[in-house]
Amino acid sequence: MVKRLLKQKLEKYFPGVDFDILVPPDDKMGDYSTNVAFVLAKKEGKDPMKVGEELAVDLRKDRDLIGIFEKIEVVKPGFVNFFLGKEFLQKQLEEIYKKRDSFGKSDAGKGKTVIVEYSSPNIAKPMHIGHLRSTVIGDALANVYESLGYKIIRWNYVGDWGTQFGKLIAAWKKWGKEFGGTNTLNAMLRLYVQYHEETKKHPELEGIGQEEFKKLEQGDPENRKLWELFREESIREFKRIYDDLNINFDFERDVAKSESGYEKDLPAIIELLKPDLKKSEGALVFEFSPEAIPANLPSTIVVKSDGASVYLTRELATLKDRLENYKPDKILYVVANQQTLHFEQLFAIAKKLGKKIGLRNTELIHVKFGMVLGEDGKKLATREGKVIPLQDVIDKIVALAGKVVKEKNPELSEKESDEIAKAVGVGALKYGDLKQHPHTDMVFDWEAMLDISGNSGPYLQYTYARLSSILVKAGPTTDNRQPIICELLNHELELRLMKRLLEFPDAVEKCADLNALNGLALYLYEFSNDINRFYESVRVLDDENIERRNTRLMLAETAAAVLERGLNILGIKALKRV
Ligand code: ARG
Repeated sequence: MVKRLLKQKLEKYFPGVDFDILVPPDDKMGDYSTNVAFVLAKKEGKDPMKVGEELAVDLRKDRDLIGIFEKIEVVKPGFVNFFLGKEFLQKQLEEIYKKRDSFGKSDAGKGKTVIVEYSSPNIAKPMHIGHLRSTVIGDALANVYESLGYKIIRWNYVGDWGTQFGKLIAAWKKWGKEFGGTNTLNAMLRLYVQYHEETKKHPELEGIGQEEFKKLEQGDPENRKLWELFREESIREFKRIYDDLNINFDFERDVAKSESGYEKDLPAIIELLKPDLKKSEGALVFEFSPEAIPANLPSTIVVKSDGASVYLTRELATLKDRLENYKPDKILYVVANQQTLHFEQLFAIAKKLGKKIGLRNTELIHVKFGMVLGEDGKKLATREGKVIPLQDVIDKIVALAGKVVKEKNPELSEKESDEIAKAVGVGALKYGDLKQHPHTDMVFDWEAMLDISGNSGPYLQYTYARLSSILVKAGPTTDNRQPIICELLNHELELRLMKRLLEFPDAVEKCADLNALNGLALYLYEFSNDINRFYESVRVLDDENIERRNTRLMLAETAAAVLERGLNILGIKALKRV
């Protein structure tokens, strides 16, 4: 809030100068600090201290800033530091308290739409740990944009089309019954792998698989039915994971909004692409012009030599639907780093087609993320080197959380402790992912994720529960607890907490600027540290001054509300007890 005001101010004083405003790690260096004088002096060959001094003189007189800062100072080699005034903070707290349940929300995105595409597993295979990142990051980003007032479309783009389903159908017809009618994803995966293995010995199976896919494409009733069965079973298992993770979509299972749904639109897309296509060994290939960005993109197949469609072409048809029917301002594709080339090609082709597919000002963004690694730094896998099914990971972390919850709260009923364990385990998983910058690989460390005294989801939940318990002990809500006199809050740790509260809206906005959640996660962690320090050093409940007690409770209540909102944006439940 203040940061934004300061930024606007400095931009007005120095248009076109590229400067930073930071929150210094140490309060002694101010609550905000800028290098603007330094940058400007360098540009104009002046003394930065002098430029800084001149600026400080002007700012101290600036009407919009009077009452906000109690001190503006210039320090070597030319930084200008700003110190928030006590009265200002106290007044702000009152304001934040009044709108505590909507604080941090804005209408910056009013009238604008963002499509967030995330999770997007392929059917007939269990969802694996890699899909966790897309699911968790995508959901949290959608929450961020939603709280900034955008209209959000949460889109699970299910991978349910491609030649591999021909092979699966062939395998099912050959051996399917051996699985005794169990249609689980594991059984489907085994069938697919078995088919793949057998093809090495009997190469003719390759052709049979292609044949089955062709029949599926042409609407053969038996194949269609089998495909529907695979799809249904898959979605049913995915749904269990989404329920566990508390994830929702606008398009979750709709055939029309999955890969298969766009099959019918492909001829039209290929027609649009024609001027840029070349025939190469029977296939149709898109060649990028020298102006395409990034340079030197390799050409790519859009129709295979046997006439079968490919991922990229279906993707273009999907994009056209998204652009024409939802008119989004942004589309975020939350997909692993490995698909970077695919998205570079997609975006470059989309740009070439432009208005023909409805692309005008929409920003197309690949929100990338790294791999999930084990503690040994290698790709996370089972002992046999196989990918780990996501359901197993969820079950394990919830079980681990359950042990701790039961130990700490033996009096809870089974049902209650199971519920808490689920929220804590899932919270640990989500926070463990979101606290890292998405581009980097994520090291999967069970212990650290669950460490209640470390930078973890459970620590944040524990902090919230601690605040809640003071508030419960205090009795009726703050609205009934009067009087509240903010001037009584003078303790260093109280002022620290108030400053932190003020930063919340900036922390949320920054997530949207960067399409990353790690900044908000860090904010909530530091905020929790401030809350715990406050709680441990400042008497709240047994303060003999009743007015101060009430006012401190009001600070605690405001902090609890903001922490809860922050956790909810990350997709983590705030619990009254853990
Ligand atoms: N189904 C793909 C996979 O699991 C991810 C799809 C990503 N989204 C997209 N629009 N290509 O690898």
